[in-house]
Amino acid sequence: MYILKGKFPIEKFEALQTPFYYYDMKLLGETLEVVKTESGKYGYHVHYAVKANANPRILQTIAAAGLGADCVSGGEVRAALDAGFPAGKVVFAGVGKADWEIDLGLDADIFCFNVESLAELEIINERAAAKGKTARIALRINPEVDAHTHAKITTGLKENKFGINLGLLGKVLDAMKQMPHVRLIGIHAHIGSQITDMSAFRNLAIRMNEIQDELEARGIQVENLNFGGGLGIDYYHPNHLPIPAFDNYFAVFKKLLQLRPGQQVHFEPGRSVVAQCGTLISRVLYVKEGEAKKFAILDAGFTDLIRPAMYDAYHRIENLSSDGEVELYDVVGPICESSDVFGKDVELNETHRGDFIALRSAGAYGEVMASQYNCRALPKAYYSDQL
Ligand code: LLP
Repeated sequence: MYILKGKFPIEKFEALQTPFYYYDMKLLGETLEVVKTESGKYGYHVHYAVKANANPRILQTIAAAGLGADCVSGGEVRAALDAGFPAGKVVFAGVGKADWEIDLGLDADIFCFNVESLAELEIINERAAAKGKTARIALRINPEVDAHTHAKITTGLKENKFGINLGLLGKVLDAMKQMPHVRLIGIHAHIGSQITDMSAFRNLAIRMNEIQDELEARGIQVENLNFGGGLGIDYYHPNHLPIPAFDNYFAVFKKLLQLRPGQQVHFEPGRSVVAQCGTLISRVLYVKEGEAKKFAILDAGFTDLIRPAMYDAYHRIENLSSDGEVELYDVVGPICESSDVFGKDVELNETHRGDFIALRSAGAYGEVMASQYNCRALPKAYYSDQL
């Protein structure tokens, strides 16, 4: 128990208004080093998925490490450029790009639009023509590979709204012949998130080989292959395995991909880069003794971290202030909704009003998904090197 607590500067937390996000910048730096070393072994390109955490300080750190950015809205493209990501390393995905967002990408001269439908392709061609430009595009294919993850974060199946179905690829390629203002530079696929079963990535690599064969039969060769993101993290052991196994992940592609000469390989990891460096720090407002249960009522709620309420996600919860006997608590927030629960029957050291509670592995899809529901303030952020 004590080792865990050593990670957090509780004395410095005393003066701060909870709840807030606390970022371990040393761990982020170490994670980025591993990403760079492991991808660098094979010359792979990594575009950090901004959606996982768009906090400016986090973005600046990732940009300074030399990664590119994967964006899914005009707002994210702006945030990425503001943080120092070069436009030449920005890719832009999303099923519903508005005209102004396409224009923004064209004006900034981003590396590539990941295109999700024929309808979108037509509009990009039109907008580029109006500017006298040619847009670099990758077709996002729906590879029909099962990611074996939560249904709400699976994207690569036929019934999902993402990407172009394999059966329709030919039609899109034919239509493209009449679109002089788009240039096909790549194929993109993303199958889902929080994937811990490497066989899903193996199947994706193999499927990409098949797609390439099909393209070649039509006389098409693309310069870039993009495999999206999705590498999962260990939510149960944030201390023992703080950096995901990027070595195994990239090695799967190295081993299985049949690259054509000169082809470049790209990835868009989000969660695996930032999840473990972020913790939501909260304080206990009340301990309520129910008839059947004990509740630890926190000052953080699903407005600060929505993953448990939205996806039944597990986050490790620790009482940073107590070494007392371990007891079971339902850990809940103050929001007026019964789904505002962080965990049921959680083992916590004996808990009292005012104790600091850590919700671990919250650096990805935490702060960035916060809301102001119930007129609550957005959580602030503090950084280990600035406290
Ligand atoms: N590329 C594309 C096209 C994506 O849609 C995503 C995530 C990523 C990359 C990054 O995936 P990652 O490496 O982070 O798994 N809010 C959910 C996760 C939604 C993921 C959406 N797309 C959660 O809290 O679990």
